[in-house]
Amino acid sequence: MKSMDLFVAPDEEMIEIYRLSGHRYPAPLAYKKENEKIEATLILDGIHRWSAYKECGFKKIEAKHWKMEPVDYETNKIALLLEGARCNLKHGDRLSPRDKKQIARDIATSDTECIYTEEALAEKLGVIRQTVNTWISDIRARQKAGRDIIIIRLNRLGWTQDQIGEVVGLSRNRISEIVGNANFSEIDTLLSQGREMDYIARHYHMDIPFALFLHLEGRTDQEKFKELGWGLRTWDQWNFNECDERFGDDWPGRIPAQLVAHTLFYFTNPGDLVLDPMAGGGVVSDVCLVFERRCESFDLAARDNRLEIKYHYWNLKDKDWPTTKKPDLIFFDPPYYSKKPPPPCISSYSKEEYEKFFKGFFLLAHKNAKETTRIAFLNADWRDFQSTPALKEPQNNSITIFDYHRILSETGWKVTHRIECPLSSERMTGNEVQKMQDKRILGTVGRSLLIARRVV
Ligand SMILES: C[S@@+](CC[C@H](N)C(=O)[O-])C[C@H]1O[C@@H](n2cnc3c(N)ncnc32)[C@H](O)[C@@H]1O
Repeated sequence: MKSMDLFVAPDEEMIEIYRLSGHRYPAPLAYKKENEKIEATLILDGIHRWSAYKECGFKKIEAKHWKMEPVDYETNKIALLLEGARCNLKHGDRLSPRDKKQIARDIATSDTECIYTEEALAEKLGVIRQTVNTWISDIRARQKAGRDIIIIRLNRLGWTQDQIGEVVGLSRNRISEIVGNANFSEIDTLLSQGREMDYIARHYHMDIPFALFLHLEGRTDQEKFKELGWGLRTWDQWNFNECDERFGDDWPGRIPAQLVAHTLFYFTNPGDLVLDPMAGGGVVSDVCLVFERRCESFDLAARDNRLEIKYHYWNLKDKDWPTTKKPDLIFFDPPYYSKKPPPPCISSYSKEEYEKFFKGFFLLAHKNAKETTRIAFLNADWRDFQSTPALKEPQNNSITIFDYHRILSETGWKVTHRIECPLSSERMTGNEVQKMQDKRILGTVGRSLLIARRVV
């Protein structure tokens, strides 16, 4: 059986309490996952109880089943999340407000038809409706964004009227009319009446970055930083503990919008074209919209609520560049080397393939770039440090920022800046840190943004 409690990271103290109680506690709740090559039973509720059994050496335990037949995770995700939340409400306050917020956001993201109201979620999670509203209003605003808003958004990101017409199924003339007749002058009146941005976004059925774009259009970059409440970093150390949830969707590996904004501030000008080859949750295009840069985005995961992200699968044999427009900046935030996610994600590559992939990508980018194009490449050192004292770490598998520097140099790019953008270490529990200290394990929270210019 695998641990897959849907919300909580195991808390060592809880496990200890269960362990000491001599296993006098109800069996964990589990479900069988369908479509797996190996049949897997996953824990829906009771990760601490399961861990306590495991730590005591149990190889087999009893579990209650949510449903006897195997279930497909994707189609049952909301039901599973709600069942887990319901169980957690019954046994004390195990879900922190942060966990509940994440569940509410996960459900809202999957529930594109907006079937679950804020009231319904509030009841299931044991909080008041206003709390759910502050947690999910940005997601709901994006889901309800009207067609005209999507058209104007794509237009401001630099799409031609033909390209927009093709994805929304309207004629070029109709697109031209919609773009020409757009009028949101009431926004400033609403703001002067003290209305909040999410009220305005809801009122106009628009997403929050679009409302911010309308409000800040024509201002300088410096003024935008100030209005967004972001300090403008003057030095090459950019650490931001939290992602600004107004920008981008909840997405694995989502990066802080402030990091993107600083890159645009120092390495592009308003009106420049930014290419985001692996766009994920779309934080780069949202920031480009507000900072008035054009943007072309690609990803394996194209979806209906993000029409600006076009499907493209980059692979080891790539010869084709998916666009004819030459970018001023390529903002490249690939999945970091980890060997974990399944293919076709590039993290599943071996070290040799992973390096080869970047070599191919940078060569292709060089061929399709302007003389002045820059690459902003975000990545982190990967070392085999799990459970291994620093002196005993095997080195042959590691990939560090020096390797990326080398590959860029070999493919026609000169690294001009290295900016440190560390990840937050707050996610580690006190116990984990203690274990690492005891065993002299040196973890890594470093992450670097390399800026490279094209060598002609
Ligand atoms: C680290 S995430 C990007 C996160 C994004 N910057 C954000 O803040 O939301 C990397 C993305 O690369 C995409 N990806 C991985 N392998 C890919 C491939 N071979 N071709 C296209 N996209 C790929 C994944 O789908 C994922 O969305």
